[in-house]
Amino acid sequence: MLSFDEHNLTDEVVKRFAECPDPRLKQVVQALVRHAHAFVKEVELTEAEWIAAIGFLTRTGHMCDDKRQEFILLSDVLGISMLVDAINHRMPDGATETTVLGPFYLGEHRVTPYGADIAANEPGERLFVEGTVSSPAGAPIAGAAVDIWHSDDEGFYDAQKGTEEPSLRARFITDAEGRFGFRTIVPSSYPIPHDGPVGQLLEATKRHPMRPAHIHFRIAAPGHETLVTHLFMPGDPWLESDAVFGVKESLVATLDGRAGGAYPDGSPAPPSWQLLRHGFGLKPVNA
Ligand code: BEZ
Ligand code: FE
Repeated sequence: MLSFDEHNLTDEVVKRFAECPDPRLKQVVQALVRHAHAFVKEVELTEAEWIAAIGFLTRTGHMCDDKRQEFILLSDVLGISMLVDAINHRMPDGATETTVLGPFYLGEHRVTPYGADIAANEPGERLFVEGTVSSPAGAPIAGAAVDIWHSDDEGFYDAQKGTEEPSLRARFITDAEGRFGFRTIVPSSYPIPHDGPVGQLLEATKRHPMRPAHIHFRIAAPGHETLVTHLFMPGDPWLESDAVFGVKESLVATLDGRAGGAYPDGSPAPPSWQLLRHGFGLKPVNA
């Protein structure tokens, strides 16, 4: 009979999974054991720390329901979500970079016409967003479904405010030139939900919970990978330290300050507003 110690235990645990019939499951579980054991050895985990970690994960689980996913939030603040995103979305030149979906996507939105105002009753600086969707080579994609959602002027999503009607979220279908456009307000930066175990972890480690202001986009078209991304507002003080590591330089939008005149759809604009124009490139399936 073998006796196990800190020097031979890892190899023995890895060996117990050797007969796993699914090669991918075997690879993942054996690597998990090796890395988890290496972590325990590196930090010389105490028994008190081990039980504290079990308590933390238990509280994280208890925080989850159909609206709140504290484990994804934990993955987000540890940079794991963006690492998985990076590995799974290596983009060819001309395709838009991806970032996290986030918890405030509520599924497909109501189809809304070009130029619609999705912020009718919201205070804030007026913004016209005009986008085009194309292949990486620049060929326009007609009929793409563009779901967008963003926070209000104070950093809250409609899902957090419990509004009955959707607000600051909509779906647009691109026209023959691959174009979509809408009126809204400039969103505000906001903290990720931080009233649970993940917030306690940030607090204990002196990290802030803020995300720089952004608009979410989910763009789907046949024959192309669905693009999940954001456009960030330029100049936001949190761009350098996004709590979930979601910022990419190519996703920082350009805002063009305008005075009066007309919006791109020809309707009269207020005395002061912003124009955001951006081209999105979709990666063809199997590219
Ligand atoms: C968001 O951008 O909506 C978000 C992303 C990750 C965690 C929390 C919020
Ligand atoms: Fe967001």
